[in-house]
Amino acid sequence: MDYQQILEQIHAEIVPTLPQGRIADYIPQLAHVNQRSFGMAVCDTQGRFASVGDADERFSIQSISKVFTLTLAMQREGERLWQRVGREPSGTSFNSLVQLEFELGIPRNPFINAGALVVTDVVLSHLGDAKAALRDFARRLSGAADVDYDYSVAASEARLGYRNSALANFLKSFGNLENHPEAVLDAYFHHCALAMSCGELSRAFMYLARHGSNSDGAVITPGQTKYINSLMLTCGTYDAVGDFAYRVGLPGKSGVGGGIVAVMPGMFSVCVWAPGLNASGNSLAGTRALERFATLTGQSIF
Ligand code: DON
Repeated sequence: MDYQQILEQIHAEIVPTLPQGRIADYIPQLAHVNQRSFGMAVCDTQGRFASVGDADERFSIQSISKVFTLTLAMQREGERLWQRVGREPSGTSFNSLVQLEFELGIPRNPFINAGALVVTDVVLSHLGDAKAALRDFARRLSGAADVDYDYSVAASEARLGYRNSALANFLKSFGNLENHPEAVLDAYFHHCALAMSCGELSRAFMYLARHGSNSDGAVITPGQTKYINSLMLTCGTYDAVGDFAYRVGLPGKSGVGGGIVAVMPGMFSVCVWAPGLNASGNSLAGTRALERFATLTGQSIF
């Protein structure tokens, strides 16, 4: 498979569409990004790597970090985690409050904000310094020792995070946070503000393409890898998850920074970045690029 040639073809096709979509502007730090940015990188289980465009530029990974926090929580909590968070697609926007009230403080899944706040609480209870834990985990998985938080993004998430504060306080009122909402939010906002490139993310996600192991050994078990990939397929792109599965046919996780990572178990991990979003908060050009990638490589889980 000539990944490089495939990525170059996709790059040429996608560039004219980049002005479409809408850059996240709920905090000023995200609105500053160039809408014409486009990067893509793929890593495979035979050690091949290919990239195109702005694949080395770091961007705000936002909700893609929810896969890393879920992995840390599953390593420590195993199946007990599911007493506090569900495993069903939400069908609502990623920051919805209404569903949480109806469902008595048990978030639908670990990838909506409410679910990620519970997962962050678990990591905080087990590891104390959840910020250092996630940063170090991302460094280890990507092999890039200087991966770090964008502290200006984290600070403005905190300053303007009224809805996430509401969710955290709501969870606490239902007894589904062990730690103080402020501590959970501080860790969560930093996790969202992790800055990584497509190349780094495609490498970091390889454990999900390799049954839970990377070159250093096991990160999680093969069974847990199946769980995380299944959750990405059913919940990773929010209320657009059906459309994403239909078009791309791979487990994937998006973030409002415009990144999406998708995994073909046993074969590859691919990351795309294009900041213009669709109405569900997923990268518009990124979704198209992954659809083309699945078509041109002839690879999907179906
Ligand atoms: O907490 C938030 O709402 C954002 N910092 C992250 C949301 C996000 O990336 C959802 N993704 N599509």
